[in-house]
Amino acid sequence: MDFLTGRVAVVTGAGSGIGAALSIELARHGCRIVLADISPAYLDAQLERVRAEGAEVMAERTDVTDLQSVESLATAIEQRFGAVHVVCNNAGVLATGPLLATPADAWRRVIDVNFWGVVNGIRTFVPRLMRQGDGGYVLNSASLAGLQGVSELGVYSASKFAVVGLSEALYQEMKPYGIGVGVLCPMVVRTKIADHAGKTSGEDASDVLDHAPRLRRGSIKTPEFVAAQAVRAILANRFYIFTHDEEREILRERAERFERACDWLNESKAALPINETEVANL
Ligand SMILES: NC(=O)c1ccc[n+]([C@@H]2O[C@H](COP(=O)([O-])OP(=O)(O)OC[C@H]3O[C@@H](n4cnc5c(N)ncnc54)[C@H](O)[C@@H]3O)[C@@H](O)[C@H]2O)c1
Repeated sequence: MDFLTGRVAVVTGAGSGIGAALSIELARHGCRIVLADISPAYLDAQLERVRAEGAEVMAERTDVTDLQSVESLATAIEQRFGAVHVVCNNAGVLATGPLLATPADAWRRVIDVNFWGVVNGIRTFVPRLMRQGDGGYVLNSASLAGLQGVSELGVYSASKFAVVGLSEALYQEMKPYGIGVGVLCPMVVRTKIADHAGKTSGEDASDVLDHAPRLRRGSIKTPEFVAAQAVRAILANRFYIFTHDEEREILRERAERFERACDWLNESKAALPINETEVANL
C-alpha cells in the first residue's frame, strides 16, 4: 500500500508513448486509470493493455486543446469513479526545424496542445483536487527542452519553457493544500512523437535527433523507464523529474552561463559606472 493504491489517475495522451507507459505503471501501483487521448484507435488498444494488468480502467476521447472536452472528461470521471487524485497532463506534440521556417499554424498547434493542453488540465482538475481536500498530485510533461533552448526545436522549447514556468508557480500555490506538483523533463525517449510531428507541421515525419544536435549527446530511454521514474517521483513528492544522466551536465553548463552573466553585470558596472539613483528617477 502506498499513496497511489486505490487512487484515480487520469493520463492525457495515454494512447501512445510515455502516456501509455504511465497508465500501465500507475495501474501496477494500484490506481484506477482514466485514459484520455484524441485518438480513439489508440484508446481502444490501450484500454485492453491496462485491463490486462487487472486494473479498473475507463477511456474517454479527449482533445486537450478544448477546455469543454477536458471538462467533459472530468464529468465522465466523476460519474464513474467519483473523484480524481493524480492528474498527468502529458499529451504533447513536436515540431522541428528552424524558427523562421516554421509556419504560423505549426506554432499555434504546438502551443495549443503543449501549453493550452496543460492549462486546460489544470483549470479543470485542480479546483476539483482542492475541493476534495484529500491531497493529490499534478504531473506536467515538459522536456529538457523546457529548461534549455535547443536549436531547431525552438517552437517546442517555447511551449515546454511555458510548462516548466507554470508548473513552478503551481507547485508553490498548491503547497498549502497538500497537492503535489511535478514537471517531467526527459531528453529523448523512444516513442512515436517524431512520426506524429509530421501531422503537426505538415512536413514529413523527421528524426528528432537530426534536428537537435545537442540531444545527440544523450542516451535514448524507453517510455517504460521514464514512466517508472515519474511514478517514483510522484511517490516521493518530487518536483523536477529528470530521466537521463546527461541532463546534469547540460543544466550545470546552463547554470554556469547565468553565473557568468551575473559576473559580467558587475564587471560592466565597474567599467562604465551608471548612477543608479539617476536611472531610477528617470
Ligand atoms: N519522446 C520524447 O523524446 C519526449 C521527450 C521529452 C518530453 N516528451 C513529452 O512527453 C509527452 C508524451 O510524448 P510521447 O513521446 O509519448 O509522444 P507520442 O506522440 O508517442 O504520444 C502523444 C499522445 O498524445 C496524443 N495527443 C496528441 N494531441 C492530443 C490532443 N490534442 N488531445 C489529447 N491527446 C493528444 C496522441 O494521440 C498520442 O497518443 C509530450 O508532452 C512530449 O512533449 C517526449
